Amino acid sequence: MGSFKGRSIISLRDMSASDLVQIVETAGRVKRGEVGGFLAGRTVAVMFFEPSTRTRLSFESAVLHSGGSIFGFASSDSSSQSKGESFADTVRTVMGYCDALVIRHPVEGAARLASELSTVPVINAGDGANQHPTQTFLDLFTMHEAVGRLEGLHVGLLGDLRYGRTVHSLAMAMSMFGSRLTLVSPPSLRMPEQFKAELSNSGIPFREVQQPEEAGTDMDFLYVTRIQRERFVDPQEYEAVAHCYRVTAETVSNLGGKVKIMHPLPRVDEIAEEVDGLPNALYFKQAHNGIPVRQALLGLITGGLD
Ligand code: CP
Repeated sequence: MGSFKGRSIISLRDMSASDLVQIVETAGRVKRGEVGGFLAGRTVAVMFFEPSTRTRLSFESAVLHSGGSIFGFASSDSSSQSKGESFADTVRTVMGYCDALVIRHPVEGAARLASELSTVPVINAGDGANQHPTQTFLDLFTMHEAVGRLEGLHVGLLGDLRYGRTVHSLAMAMSMFGSRLTLVSPPSLRMPEQFKAELSNSGIPFREVQQPEEAGTDMDFLYVTRIQRERFVDPQEYEAVAHCYRVTAETVSNLGGKVKIMHPLPRVDEIAEEVDGLPNALYFKQAHNGIPVRQALLGLITGGLD
């Protein structure tokens, strides 16, 4: 196993399959209660320049559950950026207050820049439409918990594959585990060429379709995403695709009945609430798995776990 101590977590491109397995296995130890208190004496700062419910609050809960301390801000309005301070100066300041920095920012590459400036590890909690690595770690953990493996899965990614950072990171992760991908989106929201080229280079078979039923009946997971309204420049372009998908109990049945439904949340209207009660629905369990997974990651990078 590679060492995580002192390492920033910015992109799936920086990670190997064994790194991902180590995070999943460590999160399992945390969830089973085999380790605890490993962040005692450690302080984590959260700097969120974009809204969040799950990521910020599960990082906070993760730190508190592991005996550490956490502080930060939830929007740029409540930081001195509102007075004109640069992002770089904010990072240079806050890194002196903590043992790890968790950053969400609307600009792609912001977390990478922070990691180049910071003397403490930086975790990318979402940078624009680029990546969201810790979401992927909890996605993988949830998949492994559901079917006992990560290798050789047929995964459908549905919705906004252009702007959805969670599906960019997840596609890169699945390419390390011999997956087969079905990419379901309207033509205007297809996965960017750069990510598809990386899938091709990894030898991962993928198909682009417009309806989930075109994936057949052997999908293990259908990973649904909302249309990312905040990334559209043209509101009319958003409206044209805003309600293009709605996964229902009938969709689940059409897909063979066994497919597990995942979603990073927040949901708008792309999964009908009738699906919530089906055994196929994993999305709230997925959100709750953010706690042991983020506990594990923080333990690994601060040296409290190995
Ligand atoms: N999945 C996710 O990133 O949710 P939040 O935007 O609420 O953090």
